[in-house]
Amino acid sequence: MRVQGEAMGSSRKFYDLTARERLEVLEAVGEISADDAAELRRVNEAGVLPVDVAAHLIENQVSQYALPFSVIRGLVVNGKSYTVPMVVEEASVVAAASHGAHMAARCGSINAQSEPHRVIGEIVFEARNVSVEKAQSILVSRGTQIQDIARTALPSMHARGGGLESIEVDSVGSFTRFILTVNPCDAMGANAVNTIAEALKNALSQWLGASALVAILTNSGQASVTTAEVELSPESVAVRGSDPEQLIQRIARLSDLAAVDPQRAVTHNKGIMNGISAAVVASGNDWRAVESSAHAYAAKNGTYKPLSTWQVNEKGNLCGRIEIPLQVGIVGGAASSLPVAKIARRVCGCTTVDEFKNVLAALGLVQNLSALRALAGPGIQAGHMNLQMNALAIAAGARGEEINKVVEQLCALPSDKRTSATAEYLVKALRA
Ligand code: MEV
Repeated sequence: MRVQGEAMGSSRKFYDLTARERLEVLEAVGEISADDAAELRRVNEAGVLPVDVAAHLIENQVSQYALPFSVIRGLVVNGKSYTVPMVVEEASVVAAASHGAHMAARCGSINAQSEPHRVIGEIVFEARNVSVEKAQSILVSRGTQIQDIARTALPSMHARGGGLESIEVDSVGSFTRFILTVNPCDAMGANAVNTIAEALKNALSQWLGASALVAILTNSGQASVTTAEVELSPESVAVRGSDPEQLIQRIARLSDLAAVDPQRAVTHNKGIMNGISAAVVASGNDWRAVESSAHAYAAKNGTYKPLSTWQVNEKGNLCGRIEIPLQVGIVGGAASSLPVAKIARRVCGCTTVDEFKNVLAALGLVQNLSALRALAGPGIQAGHMNLQMNALAIAAGARGEEINKVVEQLCALPSDKRTSATAEYLVKALRA
């Protein structure tokens, strides 16, 4: 990194430079073109984040990165209608979520509930140094001190009724684990658990005369699972030109397929996460935590399974159910420094973390419904054609009113002619 600093005649390291200076370095050493550097500078200075905020959020920052911010309206969960912000790059995700929300709303409300919001941490020792019996005896003899240390580590959370709830010991392979259950109130909980775990790690290491291997939360999320359910009449999911009863039977069969075919289950779950991750990103939460816990939960019994199931009940209605851990919060995290994420939280209007988790699970369920309906009916490409043509037109350089005109002309062509070359030709023709 010093070499790059010297390229600018400075001895400062790359990470000590400003965004502008970093771009100068990258340009000077030929890692970025002058045009690209200029564009990144422009984006940084015109960006959503104030330049100094962007500079301090992550290391080596050179610019900002924007994605469209959308909302879906009318997602009815537990009798309340929500407007849900979504941030995503994939065409059709928002349209599908919106359509799914409207299909569900035609039949009333999605019912959702969350187990109490808890996050688990682990403090792990080598079993050869600390046996389970020894660890358990420490819990008994030092119980009050353990509670005191946890309270001192996070006094404000404790004052709000949260903090360390329980601590247990077990054995895994050649390790002995202390398992901490923490109530993070309305926060996501990673910082809370890690702060308590690290404070206890030092004390436990001292009392046990052995140093702990690690003290960290688990992203498994299995301590708190959210469930959402919906019942839809065949008419509410009907696709023009197909028999509604047959359509919902095919949706149920797609669900059966995902239950026995892990290859299909992965894509089924990807469809669910299309919605959930987009809303998680919009809210400024850690989407990697949400994704890893969701997929771990899908594989909790050793085989990768779908997170949702669809069946036709005795009334002939389509019933969907999703079960998913959601490691999110409505306070703290990056949203404190991301102004648009703060707005997204306000737009969604959830006043407790459980309410937000219920909305996310319901969103995942309707997103999944839309995908299965398209797959069971006209197919995914037909439903998404317009949006894909949008992307093609934009990539070909169409702007403003040109976009709709190019899309219209592309849609009128046979599918093998809807290419980027045709889109470019149409843009040129319009301008000529
Ligand atoms: C595309 O992003 C998501 C789908 O593939 C989901 C699914 O197949 O269920 C349409």
